[in-house]
Amino acid sequence: MMPDTSTDALRLLKLRKSPKIFDIVAPGPNTAEIDEMLTIASRVPDHGKLAPWRFVVFEGAGRDRAGAVIAEVFQKDVPEADADRVNIERTRLSRAPLVVAVVSKAAPHVKIPEWEQLLSGAAACTLLVLAANALGYVATWLTEWYAYDVRVRTALGLAADERIVGFVHIGTLARPQEDRPRPALADIVTRF
Ligand SMILES: Cc1cc2nc3c(=O)[nH]c(=O)nc-3n(C[C@H](O)[C@H](O)[C@H](O)COP(=O)(O)O)c2cc1C
Repeated sequence: MMPDTSTDALRLLKLRKSPKIFDIVAPGPNTAEIDEMLTIASRVPDHGKLAPWRFVVFEGAGRDRAGAVIAEVFQKDVPEADADRVNIERTRLSRAPLVVAVVSKAAPHVKIPEWEQLLSGAAACTLLVLAANALGYVATWLTEWYAYDVRVRTALGLAADERIVGFVHIGTLARPQEDRPRPALADIVTRF
């Protein structure tokens, strides 16, 4: 058998996976680690150097306040929902110790297509996931219905033309994870 000569970085990139949300537990990153992750995420390819994205950090009680917003909107839409169902919505952002919303500010621009600005936001989100893993944590990128609800977005401080790229849930892995089947290269690669 060939010896494994992968660097730590390669091992991380080859093995990274997203845990189920309830398998992401405390402790989460501290303030210095959060700053380090966000610095890495903002070092993303960015056509035009527009920084067409920003980050909103939800920790501690901030997660509960955001959950209250989500629950209130849910209750308006589904008034018949019982308390347990509403509580699922109320606790949406308090399952992991840290949630970072990656927000896209992509907008029409004279030179840089809006699409490319969006892609840069998605790449920043990916870098954030990788940075969390590199620091020894795990991360899962979620959107769910509330990322697309304008009332929730407004209450969380987003402008009308801002969009949620993802809510990245970050913390410590509770138990070993099973991987999922990955695409076979033969199915996704052609040579021109
Ligand atoms: C833009 C985007 C939004 C996502 N939103 C959700 C979501 O709302 N709920 C969910 O279960 N998975 C969501 N996922 C998928 C997970 O992040 C993850 O990729 C998936 O569970 C597979 O895990 P893996 O990263 O180990 O392949 C989303 C992924 C992306 C790229």
